[in-house]
Amino acid sequence: MLSGNKRLAGNFRYFFLFVLWLTSVAFGQLPRHIIAPHAGVACAEINAARVGIQILQQGGNAMDAMIAVGFAMAVTYPRAGNIGGGGFILYRDARTGKVSAFDFREVAPAAARYDMYWRADGTPDPQKSRLGALAVGVPGTVRGLALAHKRFGTFSWERLLQPAIELARYGFVVDSFLYRSLENRRERFQQFPESFRIFFPNGQPPRPGTLFIQKDLAITLEQIAREGPDAFYTGEIAAKIVEGLKKHGGIISLDDLRNYRAKEREPIKFTYRGYTIYSMPPPSSGGLTLQGILKTLETFPLHQFEHNGADYMALVSEVEKQWYAKRNLYLGDPDFVKIPFHLFSSPEVIHQIASRIDPRRPVNSREMPEYNQIRQQESTHTTHISIVDAHGNAAAMTYTLNGSYGSFLVAGGTGILFNNEMDDFSTRPGHPNMYGLVQGWANAIEPGKRMLSSMTPTIVVRDDQLVGVLGTPGGSTIITSVLQVLLNKIDFHMPLSQAVEKGRFHQQWIPDSIAYEKDRFDPDVLQELQRRGFGLMPYSKIGDIQAIWKTDAGWEISSDPRRSGYPIGY
Ligand code: GLY
Repeated sequence: MLSGNKRLAGNFRYFFLFVLWLTSVAFGQLPRHIIAPHAGVACAEINAARVGIQILQQGGNAMDAMIAVGFAMAVTYPRAGNIGGGGFILYRDARTGKVSAFDFREVAPAAARYDMYWRADGTPDPQKSRLGALAVGVPGTVRGLALAHKRFGTFSWERLLQPAIELARYGFVVDSFLYRSLENRRERFQQFPESFRIFFPNGQPPRPGTLFIQKDLAITLEQIAREGPDAFYTGEIAAKIVEGLKKHGGIISLDDLRNYRAKEREPIKFTYRGYTIYSMPPPSSGGLTLQGILKTLETFPLHQFEHNGADYMALVSEVEKQWYAKRNLYLGDPDFVKIPFHLFSSPEVIHQIASRIDPRRPVNSREMPEYNQIRQQESTHTTHISIVDAHGNAAAMTYTLNGSYGSFLVAGGTGILFNNEMDDFSTRPGHPNMYGLVQGWANAIEPGKRMLSSMTPTIVVRDDQLVGVLGTPGGSTIITSVLQVLLNKIDFHMPLSQAVEKGRFHQQWIPDSIAYEKDRFDPDVLQELQRRGFGLMPYSKIGDIQAIWKTDAGWEISSDPRRSGYPIGY
């Protein structure tokens, strides 16, 4: 327990930092892109970024900082930061140069069935797989952070949880992003009294500039700090979770929690124009899909194309279409389905796809062989954190509740907001999910199975030296957002700031059209694409890249100006 004086000091410290931050923002002084000589953190929420930088400055490594930021964001960024969800971490140990991949994706509970979200007429009921207790997959974050801590942490577990506990217990100052995002979702929160009580104290979201305190969550985090991850999976918290979810029609059991395992996996590794790219293997589709697309694009002289011109957009989007079709048909949990890894690196397949691409006219998605084999998608709120420490260790974590605020359900007095990750399964093969992805039986629901993800935490190396760390939220657009930042850096040699700010587009096979960011593309280019027969779909924003890239002066660190983050470094 902290003493009253410490609490006062804690409150004062956050208030003081907030005033500093607010003043800088008001005067437009806080940049989205910085250069730091030694180390840095890029994430979507500034209180959490500060936690990370403090851990680094106290001598913690990139994994220590990642764990502390991960827990802090569960408090300060409730739309996606979590302990009630899951995700992936990629870690590069500077000493050995080895990259490790940690998988703490949620799993379907044992009582889950492939047709659990079907209506009587066989169509999937999105309400059931997206809102409330039935949408919740068995959470993996606490086990995942504990496994990552055991492998690479140097600070004690309790010490890494302490900042999150303080942020929950004594509060943090709310900004307008959080206020507006809660207000916009009032109706969904109102369906769950415990959630509403926490996120709408006195019937209103906490106002910008006021302190937001989460007492239940602080108690839960204190228990996890004291007793370790078992408190969550087999102890008192587990019992509260099961009981709380059951009251809302949930099916997660004590056995489901007890049996949950985080896993260390072999990362996807491939080269692209002399760079070595590491990314996440299944159950994320991120690494393999990125590999297929990049290896195909490597056969074209991309730097000769006009960046974001008609030929470039046509070529890149047609290549994306081909690889998303394979992603959607073949990929799922590797512990349940046989993944054709070779397909995504096969020179023959790459040659076949490259020779089929014609930027003058699009291939019709419905005429592709995969269409008949599937006759069968992911929300855009996930979050990514990139960290580099002064020793050159790098950590990339993408973790999520799936949709913003997940299932909207807080239950059992735990203060934990639970995911709605079950919607990332193909709840009815052949039908689109939240992200419009049409997927096959490889990603159908089975008890204990991990749902396919698009999360793409990525680390870039050249000549055995760390070059970049990046990732983003965005559901199915995650892979193509990471792709475009890599192309902007590697093929077009842009500074990271520009590579992140350039307009983005996305093609995911079905729907058969190019999604593009409004007001960021030349209208003549769009008109030309239309003339060639490409379908176009305007989006307001695609992605929220958090990235770090090596420069001669140190690390360039970027938090995407499209959303709420600010990078910090030293
Ligand atoms: N829930 C988004 C993803 O895992 O891709």
